[in-house]
This record gives sequence, C-alpha cells and structure tokens, in this order.
Amino acid sequence: MQVVRGKKIETLYSAEEIARRNSEMAAQIKSGPTKDLLVISILKGSFIFAADLIRAMHATGLAPEVEFITLSSYGKGTTSQTVKIVKDIDSDVHGRDILLIDDILESGRTLQFAKELLLERGANHVTIAVLLDKRVKRQTDLEADYVGFECPDHFVVGYGMDVAYAFRELPFVGVVTGDAE
Ligand code: IMP
Ligand code: MG
Repeated sequence: MQVVRGKKIETLYSAEEIARRNSEMAAQIKSGPTKDLLVISILKGSFIFAADLIRAMHATGLAPEVEFITLSSYGKGTTSQTVKIVKDIDSDVHGRDILLIDDILESGRTLQFAKELLLERGANHVTIAVLLDKRVKRQTDLEADYVGFECPDHFVVGYGMDVAYAFRELPFVGVVTGDAE
C-alpha cells in the first residue's frame, strides 16, 4: 500500500510484473503482421504503456513508426455512448499494418471506433494491444489481439490511467481504497 495525494492505493500490478508482460507481448507482436508497422497510441491513458511497449518491441528487433490519436467518449456506460476524435493522427494509413495501443479495453467502443476508422481509411491490418482487459464490462464483440492482464472489475489508476486527472504518474497499476488517516 502507498499513500499518494492523501489516498491509499493498493498495487494491482507492480512495475516489475508489467515490464515482464510487456516483453512477452512484444515477442507475440513480433510474430504477428508487422510489414511497414505503424503503432498508434490512444491518448491520453495509454501514453506510458505505449512508451514501454514500443521499447520492448525495439528489443525484439521491430522498428515501428509511432503516432498518437486522442479520442474521447461521451455518455459513458450508456448505449448512446459515442466516441469522438479530439486530435487525429497525421499519417496516411493506407496499406499499412497498424498496432493500436490502449490502456484498458472495457465496453470496447473506443477501440471498435478506432479500428473501424483505420480500416475505412484503407489500413491493411489492424491489431490491438491493451494493458488491461475488463471483460465483464464488454458491450461489443471486440477482442484485443494482445492483452497484458485480465483486469478485475475495479476502477484502476496509475501507469498512465487517471481518476479526475490524478495518479497518471504512478509506475504501477493500483486501486484507490480510501483516505489515508
Ligand atoms: P471503452 O470504450 O468502454 O472500452 O473504454 C475504455 C476506456 O475507458 C479506456 O481507454 C480508459 O481511458 C477508460 N477506463 C476504463 N476503465 C478505467 C479504469 O478503471 N481506470 C481508468 N480509466 C478507465
Ligand atoms: Mg482511454
């Protein structure tokens, strides 16, 4: 347990466990479609995971280009939820193999939107890597190709993920369990 900003945070996945999984995932990614590979990190939540995963990919000999897209969803948790592009990528994705990286796969709407967008734009192949999969919350039939950890149905923070803009800087994934005395 750690106290950060006056809150107790229990570790769910330590920095060491995450680093180990990132190496394993990078090895899996290397044996997938990687011709003219373009990595697209979905901001903001995936920035730390993407930074670590692409370096683990480098260690396997992969040399991807890297892009960023900022997406936001409105009406979260409702069936009317829509995903919007806040800031788009700059690259032409036509004919390219894309690896989409996000922090958490929950309902699946964010990644489904992103995958369909890239395929509509002519991407050759779109695969998905997520650090965490909250399977019980799925509202689409979307599946990730590479999953760090199957995540219990808790709201998690750290390693890029926030609650009300806090805790992105933590090097581990944790759960806020209450106020520190
Ligand atoms: P989806 O569109 O429902 O799959 O939403 C996934 C997005 O919701 C992730 O990219 C995160 O930004 C956010 N999210 C879902 N669960 C959590 C959580 O436990 N902590 C922080 N962000 C979360
Ligand atoms: Mg997100």
